[in-house]
Amino acid sequence: MRAVFINGSPRRNQNTFKMLDAARKGAESAGADTEMIHLFASEFTGCKSCFACKLKNSKTNGLCAVKDALRPILEKCVAADVIVCGSPVYLSAPTGQLRSFIERLVFPLITYMVDENGQHLRVRDKLVPTAVIYTMNCPESWMERFNYPLLLEVTADNLRAAFGHSEVLYSCDTYQFNDYSRYDINMFDETKKREHRDKQFPIDLDNAYNLGRRLVEKAGEADGTN
Ligand SMILES: Cc1cc2nc3c(=O)[nH]c(=O)nc-3n(C[C@H](O)[C@H](O)[C@H](O)COP(=O)(O)O)c2cc1C
Repeated sequence: MRAVFINGSPRRNQNTFKMLDAARKGAESAGADTEMIHLFASEFTGCKSCFACKLKNSKTNGLCAVKDALRPILEKCVAADVIVCGSPVYLSAPTGQLRSFIERLVFPLITYMVDENGQHLRVRDKLVPTAVIYTMNCPESWMERFNYPLLLEVTADNLRAAFGHSEVLYSCDTYQFNDYSRYDINMFDETKKREHRDKQFPIDLDNAYNLGRRLVEKAGEADGTN
């Protein structure tokens, strides 16, 4: 059982990474071999609209044909049994890197074909449990006002279309800087942020750990190893 963890944050050891790493440890506790991949360590683009992934009778059908540093990462994801992506919320969306990765991973795995009932055909039937973990400055109580549940669900919808299952986990009101006094900010109260980090973030990490565990168990049920 192989589980990959995709860090879409440019910061290698901050909120998003910590949430992903907790999920990774949960997956490991359920028996998976795990790997953390930092997207910002690689140079790559989004989809180039070449449509090689939908070309008739082609060996690139169902696969992204762009040859850059993302390709080996995509190959690992396509071979994985569990995929967990993580991203900070940037301007109400995942980071550009995570978005580019999702285009290149998901678009080849969804078809422009429907069956006789008009149901969309997936490239493959294998159920791969996936999830998206978001970290954000926004307190949980503001999320509805900014339409975040709707906006941030889109990536999980994409993953669901390609892999059959996806979940979303949020960590809100994150602690953003080591030293708030160095920056122009009057919108957030550093003391409240620190209190939230000390009280809520450990609970968020537990939720991430349980998510990693649960997805591996689900993958085991799907392939009959549990
Ligand atoms: C360019 C940029 C845009 C951001 N936009 C938002 C936003 O729209 N909503 C929000 O809640 N937080 C926003 N944030 C804050 C981050 O999402 C938040 O601090 C996150 O936890 C950082 O993750 P990291 O610690 O892994 O870098 C933004 C941060 C940056 C750098």
